[in-house]
Amino acid sequence: MEIQYSDGRRVEQRIYELVRNSPPFSSRDQIYPSPCEWAVEYHLSPWRANLLRPFDFGGLEVLELGAGMGALSHFLAEECSHLTVVEGTRSRYAVIEERLRQFRNWEGHVGSFFELALRKKYDVVCLAGVLEYAELFIETPTPFASLLEKARLCLKEEGVLILAIENKLGLKYWLGCQEDHLPQPYAGICDYPPKPSLRTFSRNELLELLREAGFTDTQFYYPFPDYKIVRCVLSSELARLAPDLCLGLTTGSESRSYGSAARPLIPEVLAQRSVTRAGLFEEFSNSFLVLASARPEADVMGHLARRAAQGELAWSYSSNRKLPTETSFAKDSRDGSLKVSKQLISDASARERNLMGHGLSVKWKQQPPHPAERHTLLRVEMVKDAYFKTGRSLLPEFLGWVFGRFEADAAHLRGEALDTIFTNAFIREDDSFGLLDEEWELLSPLPKSWHLLRNLIALSGPNRRVYAGVVEEVSLKAAYLKLCRKFSLPPQYEADLRREAALQSLVTLTDDCEATYFSLKRNMEVKIERWSDRGPHLSLRERGTFRARERLKRYPRLFRLIKKLRPT
Ligand SMILES: C[S@@+](CC[C@H](N)C(=O)[O-])C[C@H]1O[C@@H](n2cnc3c(N)ncnc32)[C@H](O)[C@@H]1O
Repeated sequence: MEIQYSDGRRVEQRIYELVRNSPPFSSRDQIYPSPCEWAVEYHLSPWRANLLRPFDFGGLEVLELGAGMGALSHFLAEECSHLTVVEGTRSRYAVIEERLRQFRNWEGHVGSFFELALRKKYDVVCLAGVLEYAELFIETPTPFASLLEKARLCLKEEGVLILAIENKLGLKYWLGCQEDHLPQPYAGICDYPPKPSLRTFSRNELLELLREAGFTDTQFYYPFPDYKIVRCVLSSELARLAPDLCLGLTTGSESRSYGSAARPLIPEVLAQRSVTRAGLFEEFSNSFLVLASARPEADVMGHLARRAAQGELAWSYSSNRKLPTETSFAKDSRDGSLKVSKQLISDASARERNLMGHGLSVKWKQQPPHPAERHTLLRVEMVKDAYFKTGRSLLPEFLGWVFGRFEADAAHLRGEALDTIFTNAFIREDDSFGLLDEEWELLSPLPKSWHLLRNLIALSGPNRRVYAGVVEEVSLKAAYLKLCRKFSLPPQYEADLRREAALQSLVTLTDDCEATYFSLKRNMEVKIERWSDRGPHLSLRERGTFRARERLKRYPRLFRLIKKLRPT
């Protein structure tokens, strides 16, 4: 029998049509236009499968309970030997059927997995975003433990449960992001309404539930910013061994408050730094990913977590690219140092690593494995200066350093400077700079004014709140003009915007150069937000504007048109 669960009939129908009308696609592809409603992104985003990418599913038989619209099933079908999915609603199962139409290694069932008698046993049971609903669907005295026990009974003796769920004490919720399921402010931190309710757990509570259900061996991982849109996955060992690296990996973008306008009230990166330095990184992680087995040192655990067993401690992803990448951080068994390796996830040939179009040519450079950088990230120091209004301006200092190092002539840098953005830099104790991640090269000289603009663009868009107040001027355009004056460069504002739009259309999944140009222009010209502008609550007007924008996103073409005409 079907269960009652829906994101809304209209949006679920839209997702079905998007999938049905797409030619067969992979878990790395994005088939929807951005911006879009959160439900569309949740079910179809290529960032979702990053949750499971660090694990080896080759040759394994996997059961996924509560598979939704197949965001993870898609990746599992690509990787494992056989996949069985169980989904409670017919409408969602129909999306999975369309999505997996090119695969022959899967089968599925519609209905409550509690009522389903599965005779087979599996190597892996996957439970992502499902445990929190147990109290609503299961009538036993301990519904959460019962659900975990049900999962355990589906496993072979040596099998492994993969569990993904939010942390009710996740840092983002303390900072003001709304609990992901309930409307009351701080619902998780306030320990949820009385039974029956939807419920997530702290790390210790989750560990206790798993033990109660018979799982004696557990490995905890930390997906960031959460288990839904996964930019990186960190192991417990990394948290203990290299907290500074944890900070660098987890604070590249601000956490999102899904489906509400709430947002962190203070710089998340600074709060994360305090929590990490206090040794509380694992307790405050926004989500958990747990591998759990009823047997210590089970074979399947060794197989799944092969890369972790070989010393890999963290994995970070760029999924918004035509050439998506994975960066892994591994411990050197000889001296315990940490090494970084970056590789393409797709099997692009050497020729495809040169991208050409819109009058530009860029090359993706394979870097050899190198030691992980342990100095303070420049972006963290910049946020600190902005929040405490120290008056120090590190950005112009950094740009002056880059100009000195990569100068080709009075107006140009060498093309290899393309990636020398402040987000890819660190600062030493003696205030000298260093570079982290130079992966792209422009195959022609790089205009210095464009390079200034590129650094300012990195302060905008989804990152504008992270970097609130880093620039003192009223807008990034005003900051651009001031920096051009400082470095005696003739401003080429329109031409630089066009160059940046061309580069982004070439490298990222957004192909529409014209729309990218308008979006960048808007980001450069909007009034810069400051920390002091933020109140503890949103005004009624702000709330109204947010709701109207969300509604408008259901009509992406109209939304883009209005954004072009009325930048806000
Ligand atoms: C938040 S969604 C997660 C979907 C999917 N695991 C993912 O990560 O995209 C929860 C899903 O679990 C399904 N579900 C919840 N309880 C269930 C049950 N007892 N039997 C079958 N499906 C269930 C719901 O229908 C829904 O699709």
